[in-house]
Amino acid sequence: MLFRSFLRQLGIAGAGLAWSPASLARAAGTNGPVVPAKGAPRNPDFNPKLPLTPEAIVTNYNNYYEFSTQKDRVAQLVGRFRTSPWSVWIGGLCSKPMTLDLDDLLKVAPPEERVCRFRCVEAWSMVVPWTGLPLAKLLSKVEPSPDALYVKFTTVLRPDEMPGVARLSDYPWPYTEGLRMDEAMHPLAFIATGLFGKPLPKQNGGPVRLVVPWKYGYKSIKSIVKIELVREQPETLWNTLAPREYPFESNVEPNVPHPRWSQATERDLATGNRIPTLPYNGYADQVASLYPRK
Ligand code: MTE
Repeated sequence: MLFRSFLRQLGIAGAGLAWSPASLARAAGTNGPVVPAKGAPRNPDFNPKLPLTPEAIVTNYNNYYEFSTQKDRVAQLVGRFRTSPWSVWIGGLCSKPMTLDLDDLLKVAPPEERVCRFRCVEAWSMVVPWTGLPLAKLLSKVEPSPDALYVKFTTVLRPDEMPGVARLSDYPWPYTEGLRMDEAMHPLAFIATGLFGKPLPKQNGGPVRLVVPWKYGYKSIKSIVKIELVREQPETLWNTLAPREYPFESNVEPNVPHPRWSQATERDLATGNRIPTLPYNGYADQVASLYPRK
């Protein structure tokens, strides 16, 4: 309902008006501001000085298959999903495994805001102000052992609260994702607990999600309950379903087409314009050295 009432507020919910992110952006006044959201200070090292995608788009155009495969339905379907209390178990190959509730997690490092490019494998993109903490700070708390070569992340699985799970009954739930340890410890890898200076909305993966801005969006797993340090490359939901389409690494690479479409350009959701996709989603200077063979 949130979405429909939002459209009504904007006066664009009339019959026959086909909704698109671009039409919503036009109605909302094109791009959002470049000013920091309230709450946490913006980290100047992670601020590409791009106009933010309007909040109404970021919070109503969602991929969250546990709820729906229809992006504009997710925000309407998260109502019954309980995000409090919440705790995250972090363990596996480490000397101090622990379970942190959300308050503990928020105290691991001072919250900071980062503006990130966000590029989906489906070839659309947004510019998003996340609040949270570097993943490396969280992982350091548990003192990873040298044998930990990968990190596996798991989303909560509550079919009673997540109507999409039963509809995709052949999917290998729960949603899982993974990173190499060096990727996970990279300063760009981020744990988000907020968006636009507010607590992270459920449809965006609240209360806690991963943000890996140089990789396709599906690596940025939502509503995390488990982070496990492991020796072998972990299985992940998309890689298990379609390994040729969703490789484990999944860096944004404009020259490597998806088997079914080109990745050379992307649709900017704020303007509807097609823009060139940048290697590593614009973060090559920071992360290319992680991938020396390329
Ligand atoms: N995490 C879970 N648990 N379930 C999902 O369906 N979708 C992924 C990723 N994380 C997904 C997920 C995909 S495909 C994308 S593009 C992003 O979340 C979308 O994040 P957003 O809705 O905040 O834009």
